[in-house]
Amino acid sequence: MFLEMKLYSNKEFCKIFLSLTLVCLFSACNPDPTRSKNQGNDSTNLLIAYLHQLPGGAEIQAEAKAKIGLLPANTPGSESDTQAQITLGNKIFRDNTLSLNHVQSCHTCHPLNGNSAGMDGQSTSRGTFGQEGRRNAPTILNVGYLPIIFWDGRKQSLFDQAVAPFLDSLEMALPSEAELLLRLQNNSDYASLFQSAFPDSPAISIDSLRKAISAFERSLISKSRFDDFIEWDLRALNNEEKQGLKTFLDLGCTNCHNGYLLGGTQFKKLDSFYSYNPSDLGRFEFTGNQDDKSFFKVPPLRNVTLTAPYFHDGSVRTLKEAVTRMNQYEMSRPMTDLEIDSIVTFLKSLSDKTKSN
Ligand code: HEC
Ligand code: HEC
Repeated sequence: MFLEMKLYSNKEFCKIFLSLTLVCLFSACNPDPTRSKNQGNDSTNLLIAYLHQLPGGAEIQAEAKAKIGLLPANTPGSESDTQAQITLGNKIFRDNTLSLNHVQSCHTCHPLNGNSAGMDGQSTSRGTFGQEGRRNAPTILNVGYLPIIFWDGRKQSLFDQAVAPFLDSLEMALPSEAELLLRLQNNSDYASLFQSAFPDSPAISIDSLRKAISAFERSLISKSRFDDFIEWDLRALNNEEKQGLKTFLDLGCTNCHNGYLLGGTQFKKLDSFYSYNPSDLGRFEFTGNQDDKSFFKVPPLRNVTLTAPYFHDGSVRTLKEAVTRMNQYEMSRPMTDLEIDSIVTFLKSLSDKTKSN
């Protein structure tokens, strides 16, 4: 015990010492008289459970830091975003009058309120007239960090992507950019909002709309207990979650779900075992390159517990099934059922701390 403690820095040692003192104090002055009979046992158990948590995890933490990495504090490009631009972007994002029949906004398919994690929970999204879309909506949380936009990577940046949903006939279905501009101009709220967001070019414009939406999206940073764990707090994950993380790392999930988003950096083709809907050819549709047929972006796994159903076509209903399917692809060895459950337990720790699983 003593030797192990020496491995901790002085600061860590002080933290542990203080916590132990608190646990001892707590058990000595338990105010609940009904518990007094078992008090000794309870507090011993508590102490043992607590000690059990303490030393574990440093190695897994170091491995996760090396293989996954820390989420940067800010999204790239956000340095020059202003609060006024974010406020304007947020308003546009939630404005139903910017769809043809005034029913749908970006927020309809990427809801953020309450426990919603920036996607609509549909297999494939429905447009403003209820028309069925082709793909599963990814979460909008942390999109500011994404190196690849869309399942097939057909947009280069958030700026580049921001107008497409307004004009897509399967989404908000406006006929033209001119119509989008007109609707913004006809709403008296927007003149002053554009002015404060873009004092150097205050007129309402599509260029400023793109900038405002991107600024808002870059502000949607979502952090989880997993971040606390790899940044500083070995106790942010319980033992089962640490075990699940270890399995995730050992089995090679990070061959594809790599980087601090646990995905989002590369395209892979997974239709060798389960066949896909043949009408969606993935990245090929954008590049025209035969080698890209059925390639889709490896999705980031942050907030994954909150974003069922899964895969680009939303064909997989549960997280357990999604993880089970991975058994067929580039794993260092097959997973057992227990290992699958353990990984699912770990994946829950990737959810935004303000939302519950
Ligand atoms: C009808 C539902 C719907 C609406 C409305 C909608 N989206 Fe999406 N969004 C989707 C779907 C589905 C995808 C995935 C499309 C694909 O990859 O081909 C997506 C993808 C995205 C992505 C890329 C995410 C990623 O992980 O690659 C961003 C960013 C985004 N939408 C922002 C917006 C903005 C901004 C608006 C409003 C201007 C909006 N969306 C409106 C359904 C919708
Ligand atoms: C060969 C690369 C590869 C490996 C290895 C891999 N994945 Fe995946 N994973 C993918 C791709 C690609 C998709 C998306 C497939 C699609 O939509 O068609 C995916 C989808 C998922 C999804 C669904 C996410 C969503 O939002 O739809 C989960 C969960 C998942 N993987 C977890 C894991 C776990 C856990 C492991 C390790 C046991 C793992 N993956 C290993 C490539 C991989």
